[in-house]
Amino acid sequence: MSSASRPQHDRPPVSITRLAEMKEAGEPIAMVTAYDFPSAQVIEDAGADMVLVGDSAANTILGYDSTVPVGMDEMVMLAKAVRRGTKTPFLVGDLPFGSYEASNELAIASAQRMIKEAGCDAIKLEGGGTSAERAAAIVQAGIPVVGHVGLTPQTATALGGFKAQGKTAAAAIKVAEDAIALDQAGCFAIVFEAIPEAVAEMIVAKLDAITIGIGAGNATDGQVLVFFDLTGLNDGFMAKFAKRYADVRGEMRRGVEGYVNEVRSGAFPAPEHVYSVDPSELEALRQRLNREDLESNYSWDWEPLS
Ligand code: KIV
Repeated sequence: MSSASRPQHDRPPVSITRLAEMKEAGEPIAMVTAYDFPSAQVIEDAGADMVLVGDSAANTILGYDSTVPVGMDEMVMLAKAVRRGTKTPFLVGDLPFGSYEASNELAIASAQRMIKEAGCDAIKLEGGGTSAERAAAIVQAGIPVVGHVGLTPQTATALGGFKAQGKTAAAAIKVAEDAIALDQAGCFAIVFEAIPEAVAEMIVAKLDAITIGIGAGNATDGQVLVFFDLTGLNDGFMAKFAKRYADVRGEMRRGVEGYVNEVRSGAFPAPEHVYSVDPSELEALRQRLNREDLESNYSWDWEPLS
């Protein structure tokens, strides 16, 4: 679909007030990750309520093997592109590993970059404990914060790898403590990742915050999926909770294969892709090119490399 034929709509931008109304009314919230301008436009056109510039960008588009290496400058650049592609969904920017843990000052400075430079509406950070203290500091600095509990990819090694969390009562209490700490810190929303549905159900009942699940079943107020998982652009690992709704990777590969084959067969470019020229201009060109005194009009003032 060309940008000229993009669907027009007059939905107002989604605000925290609107998200709270949706929670109150039991209207499920649809959140999607995005990392670039065209994907953001697709998500805008598809009518999502929230967009997360997730640090999953590290794996999905930057080719790192975990979310740990991605830095603040990379995240800000991606969030800016997503901002340019979205007007309506509420836009959340993930704070990457190392950009908020060390101090409240660092956390506020990183959060301010996401809001001021990238134009995000809120930031997200992972974990409870000191992360709840950082969240409170950022909220006090006037920036809305989304928390993230359960499987927190930035610290997955410490959690024993990429696996479901809260599967024993003791582990579920830890998830509950983290979520309650983030709620009390003033997070307006909390992501629950890879937690048994029944555990999530018990914990969300204790919270005021809007809850968004990814692998947490139906108990949360909304769902989030990674854009490349749901569109089928990712051909790598798919978590149990991810669902593929399209085969964009296959479609892209078929497109590029079609192009490569047509270049090789000479079928592309076809007459409709070629510019024409007035025959009299062509004849004049032919005569000029045939003149023996034809010289270049270009001059260079640099010395050629020896
Ligand atoms: O980075 C990300 O994409 C996330 C979602 C999985 C919630 O944090």
